[in-house]
Amino acid sequence: MHDTTAAPVRRTAGGNTLSARYQRLQQRFPTVAHVRNHARRHVPHFAFEYMDGGAGTDKGIARNWSALDAVELVPRYGVTTGLPPVDVELFGRRYAAPLGIAPMGGPSIAWPGADEHLAAAAQAARVPYALSTVGGITIERAAALAPDVFWFQLYRFAKDDHKVGFDLVRRADAAGAHVLVLTMDVPVRTTRSREVVGGIVYPFRITPRMAAGVAASPGYLMSLWRHGITRFACLMPYAGGDTSTNGMARFMQGEQRGAFTWEEVARYRERWKRPLVLKGILHPSDAEKAVALGIDGLIVSNHGGRQVEGLPAAIDALPAVVAAVGKRATVMMDSGVRSGMDVVRAVALGAGAAFAGKAFLWGVAALGADGPGHVIDIMADEMRSALGQIGARTLAEAREVVVRHPGALNFQSNVAP
Ligand SMILES: Cc1cc2nc3c(=O)[nH]c(=O)nc-3n(C[C@H](O)[C@H](O)[C@H](O)COP(=O)(O)O)c2cc1C
Repeated sequence: MHDTTAAPVRRTAGGNTLSARYQRLQQRFPTVAHVRNHARRHVPHFAFEYMDGGAGTDKGIARNWSALDAVELVPRYGVTTGLPPVDVELFGRRYAAPLGIAPMGGPSIAWPGADEHLAAAAQAARVPYALSTVGGITIERAAALAPDVFWFQLYRFAKDDHKVGFDLVRRADAAGAHVLVLTMDVPVRTTRSREVVGGIVYPFRITPRMAAGVAASPGYLMSLWRHGITRFACLMPYAGGDTSTNGMARFMQGEQRGAFTWEEVARYRERWKRPLVLKGILHPSDAEKAVALGIDGLIVSNHGGRQVEGLPAAIDALPAVVAAVGKRATVMMDSGVRSGMDVVRAVALGAGAAFAGKAFLWGVAALGADGPGHVIDIMADEMRSALGQIGARTLAEAREVVVRHPGALNFQSNVAP
């Protein structure tokens, strides 16, 4: 039997216009899995290990993926959906899809120049782009590249009464960041074994051992030549004039990192007048606390399995957090998202949007400047198709479908089943 609906439908994240890039790339890279396979071959080994590896032995990453795969949506028929629109409003702004680029430190290790490509792709597709505190471009550069979609993520820099943290927030405000994201889930450092074995050193530099891999990846080498080694661009003004690799390392060691306390969250709430989001929440009681402090949004996340591998998958914690928060804040999620189907799963379980990290790094590592935009095109197309397939005419209707979610956490007792 012929499936007459199987022909590829080519659309851009924005909607009905066909993107020439998507038509060109979709033949070879129809899914994010294809993009990842190509990324693995296209960059030096250490670069792939940096972007792809998780804490411990990657069990947290595997759990994120299998938990998302296990979520099943039961379709309903009898309505004509066409390919539904996927544009969405988040914190008073319209975005082309409920999918954002998660904040990432050191994307330019994956592909030199990646920070700029991510920001530019998000702006072109009109999806949220979150610059990390430890990203490779300055706040001001990110705002110039992505003025309509720029969010800023802050780690805790608490020395001298948050001197650096408060100044970063001042700069994000002056640059016009639409949303401030405070990351809660990095209380202590971690070890990612694939980075260690891959030979990555901090502060990042190309060691003689890594040089052979770079030499064998001409595209990477060219990009490195053009963009140079990744730096902590946002943090340079605070290093006391010594922005050498060692100077920056000294600055980082001297800072008090760790997780924000609730008191500190309240102080940032007071300073930041635009939407404020907490990232890395997995427990509904933490969500309740955040809402009580006037937080506008949450990203349910386990940091993509990069911090510790014994956490629940974010998708499994999502429904309980959504139930706890209700309409008082926008609940979003990340960790494991690799397809438009995954985004629709998250939306069906109550998320206002989903973010992806690794998928965009695979994109840029495989395809350079074209990569992040292609990943957005793939996922937006898959979202429309998934919505149409389950009989949802809108994202809101996806929330009404019957969902089988075997891993959903139940927080009623102390021991979640
Ligand atoms: C290379 C890399 C660096 C990251 N750096 C940060 C960071 O600086 N700040 C942050 O809040 N999250 C960071 N994350 C976590 C992402 O924001 C996001 O939570 C995670 O990647 C989502 O999971 P996924 O990679 O499976 O999509 C990083 C993730 C990756 C892959």
